[in-house]
Amino acid sequence: MKDILLNRRTIRKYLAIPIGKSMLDEILIAGCRTSTTGNMQVYSIIITRDKKKKEELSPLHFNQKMVTEAPVVLTFCADFNRFNKWCRLRNAEPGYDNFLSFMTAAIDSLLVAQTVCIAAESRGLGICYLGTTTYMANKIIEVLNLPKGVVPTATVTIGWPAEKPDQVDRLPMSAIIHNELYNDYTDETINKYYCEKEGRHDSKQFVIENNKSTLAQVFTDVRYKKEDNIYFSKILIQVLKDQGFMNQ
Ligand SMILES: Cc1cc2nc3c(=O)[nH]c(=O)nc-3n(C[C@H](O)[C@H](O)[C@H](O)COP(=O)(O)O)c2cc1C
Repeated sequence: MKDILLNRRTIRKYLAIPIGKSMLDEILIAGCRTSTTGNMQVYSIIITRDKKKKEELSPLHFNQKMVTEAPVVLTFCADFNRFNKWCRLRNAEPGYDNFLSFMTAAIDSLLVAQTVCIAAESRGLGICYLGTTTYMANKIIEVLNLPKGVVPTATVTIGWPAEKPDQVDRLPMSAIIHNELYNDYTDETINKYYCEKEGRHDSKQFVIENNKSTLAQVFTDVRYKKEDNIYFSKILIQVLKDQGFMNQ
């Protein structure tokens, strides 16, 4: 546990070496051992190995090069389609056309995704999550032929590492952990907890490169802007409607 979990880092560069079918199967089987709500397993995983399909997916992930360079791209989906069909075949009326059910399936799919990542990393592979999946869900649905009841929640690229970047920082544990009750942050504790992150050379560079005066502004004004969040939220809400999760 110490080596795999504490020494990991995201890998964005991969060797041009495939991942064998048996190894990928093993990793996916481990992933599917993950706990899920009521053991309903309301998720699906789409494997993309085909070069052409990766090229189709690439612009939907803002041309992040991992999509075309990784031997395997996995798209994790919240999926009530299979379960709904089973219910209907067995004279049971599914009541899963609502936002809560989307959250249930999204949680299941993301828990499985994370287990798959750990399983892959435990075999020496490198992984990178792509958050672009929820931004471009409408287009990914088209490219991967996802039916009603299915919404992509995360994409993970997997491959043999061709880099070993430095580990990136984390907030101190005292910033994250609350004992028994939530201990709300004061200006002083915020200053204390973010001091290390803001003081790092790479953070300072990041601020200069982006022509900003604080690291927080790099997030609010450049990386995760309000207007973008609103724009992509509208698309995602429409996806949830179209895929049948907003009927109540
Ligand atoms: C939901 C999610 C979405 C992410 N999206 C991207 C992405 O689109 N592109 C990318 O290069 N990294 C992405 N990452 C990787 C994060 O940038 C990375 O995990 C974070 O900087 C911490 O680095 P580490 O994993 O090496 O510790 C994502 C991670 C998560 C969990």
